[in-house]
Amino acid sequence: MPRYPIGPAALELIRGDIVAQTTDAIVNAANERLAAGGGVCGAIFAAAGHRRLAAACRPLAPCPTGEARITPGFALPARHIIHAVGPVYRRADLAGSAALLAGAYRSSLEVAAQHGLASVAFPSISTGIFGYPVADASSVALGTVRQFLTSPGSLRLVRLVLWDQASLDAYTAAAQATGLAEARAVSSPKETP
Ligand code: APR
Repeated sequence: MPRYPIGPAALELIRGDIVAQTTDAIVNAANERLAAGGGVCGAIFAAAGHRRLAAACRPLAPCPTGEARITPGFALPARHIIHAVGPVYRRADLAGSAALLAGAYRSSLEVAAQHGLASVAFPSISTGIFGYPVADASSVALGTVRQFLTSPGSLRLVRLVLWDQASLDAYTAAAQATGLAEARAVSSPKETP
């Protein structure tokens, strides 16, 4: 599991299921209506409890693309859900797509910090139904997280939870390209003979 120290915090990349995360918050790859959907969104609504989560989301909608809203986690292990709206990928507007994707990550991190949270787990926003190429999305995501964590705040752990090996590989490559240095494994002290 790659782990990259950034100031007093760490960024982790893992392969897994977002709904199983025990971080203070998990992030939903949401839509502007904050309504149930497929992919990550469908899994989160099912695991949190559809009726209670839909009732909590209704008064917070609409949430513009690039922004985020917070609700309780209800039946999830995580206490909070941060609903982030990433963009539908537009090849004709690469810079606009990247700015909105960065906004979705930054807004989520700001909401987490405003609530004094120490740990948050993200899925790969926009790279499923919204069609954002994972090679491009991963560098936007990691660059935004890295920049946010360099300023002091409550967050100590940001985890990217990737559903498939190809996504984990893309994020690992993006971390290296961004210049993030992996934490070295702590070796047990040698015994003196
Ligand atoms: N845990 C982690 N990652 C997951 C999970 C899961 N349980 N399920 C799917 N993924 C992965 C997908 O493989 C993809 O790489 O999350 C990434 C994002 O995929 P989507 O959930 O399709 O999110 P997105 O592309 O942002 O589309 C959002 O889809 O479900 C609707 O309401 C949602 O309209 C919104 C749109």
